[in-house]
Amino acid sequence: MHREKPFLRAHLCLNSYLWKSAFTRAMGSRLVLGIETSCDETGAAVMDETGVILGESLHSQKEVHLKTGGIIPTIAQQLHRENIGRVVQEAMERSSISPSQLSAVATTVKPGLALCLGIGLDFSLSFVKKHQKPFIPIHHMEAHALTVRMLQPVVFPFLVLLVSGGHSLLALARGIDDFLLLGQTLDEAPGDAMDKVARRLSLIKHPKCSTISGGQAIELLAQDGDRLKFHFRPPMGAHYDCNFSFAGLRNQVKMTIQKKEAEEGVEPGTLLSCVNDIAAAMQHTVAFHIAKRTHRAILFCKAQGLLPSFNPTLVVSGGVASNQYIRKTLKIVTDATGLDLLCPPSKLCTDNGVMIAWNGVERLREGKGILSYTDVVHYEPKAPLGVDITAEVEAAAIKLPPLKLKIMD
Ligand code: KG4
Ligand code: ZN
Repeated sequence: MHREKPFLRAHLCLNSYLWKSAFTRAMGSRLVLGIETSCDETGAAVMDETGVILGESLHSQKEVHLKTGGIIPTIAQQLHRENIGRVVQEAMERSSISPSQLSAVATTVKPGLALCLGIGLDFSLSFVKKHQKPFIPIHHMEAHALTVRMLQPVVFPFLVLLVSGGHSLLALARGIDDFLLLGQTLDEAPGDAMDKVARRLSLIKHPKCSTISGGQAIELLAQDGDRLKFHFRPPMGAHYDCNFSFAGLRNQVKMTIQKKEAEEGVEPGTLLSCVNDIAAAMQHTVAFHIAKRTHRAILFCKAQGLLPSFNPTLVVSGGVASNQYIRKTLKIVTDATGLDLLCPPSKLCTDNGVMIAWNGVERLREGKGILSYTDVVHYEPKAPLGVDITAEVEAAAIKLPPLKLKIMD
């Protein structure tokens, strides 16, 4: 009996899924193919207008980049080139539709690594040309910010925190193509800082961490660490804005590692005995910094009347958003300020074709940014998110009321 249950559940899910997709197709729901290649994931997905994923495929380059110690753009480009055809074909085959049934193709064109964006764009442009389909250029950050609406009806405006290996920003989403940028990182993103520290600690040699990202390794080791064994100064304490900085913190941690190596008389590259405590202290400082900036962004939006009084919401996305300690710290902030905290499941927080397809669906529904003429489309490695009001936020210089950011495990 026990063994049958999962099968039965899967069978029922599959049946209702097939029924739903057959139904939406019969009703003439429009279908979008989404393609993502802006960084280190080659992703594709076919989605109908209601947000049902008909088929998807994802090729991650993370393991390759873990071995080379970071993303080398030419290698990333080559891997996208090798995989994009197969990934798109798989997504199409899994959805059991032909290109002629698509209403549009949506592809990330900004921001991202130039060489990688180029592969996705070239592939998409020849695809739309061959099959005579409209093209929807997608802003990668907008797609991250709006993914949550695929899962539940979050209405505009809402606050968004994007934290990953490549991004760190706070923005107010007012519409599918209407964002106010409240703050962003002045140097590097939190995932990048944790990846660099993990490499400096040689966590790849740690039996528990050899195949996971730096950020995941820090979270895992921190569970057995005592964060009070080390103190790292939280970044930008005297700046009353919503910008982020992680490079200084990364340096503080690296200096501590160097000191510990000298004390223990070991060479760089040797696993330190206090690795769990360093991970816990760094994770806490990252969480603290993110929480402080988010708290200020909430107070700024409230003071300016930018958030609705009914169900104001903070959406958190990006790879770092899967960190449970950071989520718990943010929950303290949202509980204290009366906001709902929403985090899409980890799988949808990281880069994938689904979020791009969903952004295409949202644009198709509103008839925004749909191109039938593609000769003028280019990729843009750097592209800000929305209207930059970081200077206004800084000028408001909001001082935060005391709030204990203490996580009980
Ligand atoms: O969104 P994502 O897949 O791609 C980028 O935009 O980079 O995020 C990957 C980043 C990496 O830096 C990784 O170390 C970090 O997210 N990350 C985490 C966790 N899982 C992934 N950071 C902290 N805690 C985690 N559990
Ligand atoms: Zn991303």
